[in-house]
Amino acid sequence: MKVLGIETSCDETGIAIYDSEQGLLAHELYSQVKLHADYGGVVPELASRDHVRKIIPLVQRTLASASLSKDDIDGIAYTRGPGLIGALLVGSSMARALAYAWQVPSIGVHHMEGHLLAPMLDDNAPEFPFVALLVSGGHSMMVDVRGIGQYTVLGESVDDAAGEAFDKTAKLLGLDYPGGPLLAKLAQQGESGHYQFPRPMTDRPGLDFSFSGLKTFAANTIRSSDGELQTRANIAKAFEEAVVDTLLIKCKRALKQTGLKRLVMAGGVAANQHLRASFEQASKHSGFEVYYPSFEYCTDNGAMIAYAGCQRLNAGETTALDEKAMPRWPLESLSAI
Ligand code: KG4
Ligand code: ZN
Repeated sequence: MKVLGIETSCDETGIAIYDSEQGLLAHELYSQVKLHADYGGVVPELASRDHVRKIIPLVQRTLASASLSKDDIDGIAYTRGPGLIGALLVGSSMARALAYAWQVPSIGVHHMEGHLLAPMLDDNAPEFPFVALLVSGGHSMMVDVRGIGQYTVLGESVDDAAGEAFDKTAKLLGLDYPGGPLLAKLAQQGESGHYQFPRPMTDRPGLDFSFSGLKTFAANTIRSSDGELQTRANIAKAFEEAVVDTLLIKCKRALKQTGLKRLVMAGGVAANQHLRASFEQASKHSGFEVYYPSFEYCTDNGAMIAYAGCQRLNAGETTALDEKAMPRWPLESLSAI
């Protein structure tokens, strides 16, 4: 079964074709980063309009790069939520129009399920069950995953998502949007040990996160600093170390609590090199396996939606053409396949 995947939940138009037999056949991505950079964050109306402009050429390009025509497509998967409603409406309307015109089934995919299953696109895919750490710009969650659609949320952020904390702290450091990768780059020039950031909510039981305090701590630290490049790099380093340390403490706790030995991390922040290196090191000492998607499938992309949709379509699930997009959509409400 060949499934066309469409991702438009935020500021990336991602299109891909996944084949249940041959794997990923093609994927294309258009990032709106430059469009929103002047505003220091995503402007929802501009995002929707840009998806409208880019989506059809990108579908055509993806078909061409897989050397396929519309007649080869057996199903359409699209991000149904959560995300920006205008952006979701562009992708879901396009997906349903194509499904209607091409007379194939369509399936609305949960964006975070897409992230969670993204490591399955790799040759070294994890087996179920595992603990998933989902760290993106909009969500931070710890999930007990027993199979596709069998999700128990063990903890989540009570305020900012991890990526959001990266972006806001980056802004305070004078970096452009989206700041996460730029802060990580600045941190590479930083030295450890100059600043001691807190490790929020690690001193009490539970698996929830809180990142807004780190951002405030960063704001105060920056305000009372000399603002030199090296100082800002040291602050970036201390911030990054605090986020990574906090996530690691919570993940070890989740593994202990569930008795599981596999950890999957996904979402934009999982692209962070320091996070990957720290988790790899810890996995060797603490006897668990760690999996993450390749860089291009950490941040938003169409491949993860095509993959997740393909699994659900293959299991006989479809979404009716009159179902609405879901800007809010609890992960635990998904059905098991
Ligand atoms: O998953 P994603 O592409 O979009 C959402 O679903 O939100 O995640 C985007 C987030 C942004 O906050 C971005 O700054 C962060 O992921 N991010 C990073 C890195 N690359 C992307 N954060 C830290 N280090 C990185 N290397
Ligand atoms: Zn995402």
